[in-house]
Amino acid sequence: MSLLSVRNLCKNYGALEVTRNVSLDVAPGELHAIIGPNGAGKTTLIGQLSGQNAPDSGSVSLEGRDITRRSMAERVRLGLARSFQITSILPRFSVLENVAIAVQARSGSSYRFFAPVAQEAALNDAAMAALADAGLEDRAGLRASALSHGEHRRLELAIALATQPKVLLLDEPLAGTGGEEAEAFVQRLRALKGRYATVLIEHDMEAVFALADRISVLVYGEIIASGSPEVIRNDPKVRAAYLGDEEAA
Ligand SMILES: Nc1ncnc2c1ncn2[C@@H]1O[C@H](COP(=O)(O)OP(=O)(O)O)[C@@H](O)[C@H]1O
Ligand SMILES: [Mg+2]
Repeated sequence: MSLLSVRNLCKNYGALEVTRNVSLDVAPGELHAIIGPNGAGKTTLIGQLSGQNAPDSGSVSLEGRDITRRSMAERVRLGLARSFQITSILPRFSVLENVAIAVQARSGSSYRFFAPVAQEAALNDAAMAALADAGLEDRAGLRASALSHGEHRRLELAIALATQPKVLLLDEPLAGTGGEEAEAFVQRLRALKGRYATVLIEHDMEAVFALADRISVLVYGEIIASGSPEVIRNDPKVRAAYLGDEEAA
């Protein structure tokens, strides 16, 4: 069964065909990576999934429901969480408070039946669970501004997880991190695998080939290949267009 289903998406910016007849499926629990050169249209595609930008034609469905015309906020409520580039972390608030705000935003009025003290405890528990999933439980009491760059990125992940998504959309979560920070993020994603369906855009091929169940290759707005890491690694079209002679992973 397909949880997220994309059919024949097309988008032009003037003469530029940035999305060309893109179709893809994401199964429950699947990590589906999208790779491709700079300017291929990866971020634009994620924007069309999250509702940030509208396709000219084609459709996006979540659990069989057509969400092509739904707003970003509606998509978050239905279970699509996009991390990075829309998240604004409040630097003077604590790490825990930043996540608690996201929990409350998602749950809407569902906490109002609790007494205030119980409400705070429930919010706290949900926020701590998301922080633990992002490997930040020991940073809960710090101000967000005190986090390292890599921890900042994991806080953005925790905020996305706090919305209890069905599908996580991650656009280059490793960008600007390196070494141990990147490794820590990859470890979190590996631990979360299976619990969430994930669409991952990432340039770090080692991470992509280690994590992905399926990889789609986007070149000039078009998916030129889609398959298991093994299939993609050995696809001559992909090697010619993108991977080149750089041995992937
Ligand atoms: N709002 C826009 N208006 C015009 N061109 C855009 C817009 N957004 C992106 N583009 C162009 O679309 C192409 C794909 O961009 P993008 O989706 O950011 O690629 P990627 O994430 O794969 O690097 C680029 O050539 C970019 O300049
Ligand atoms: Mg991009």
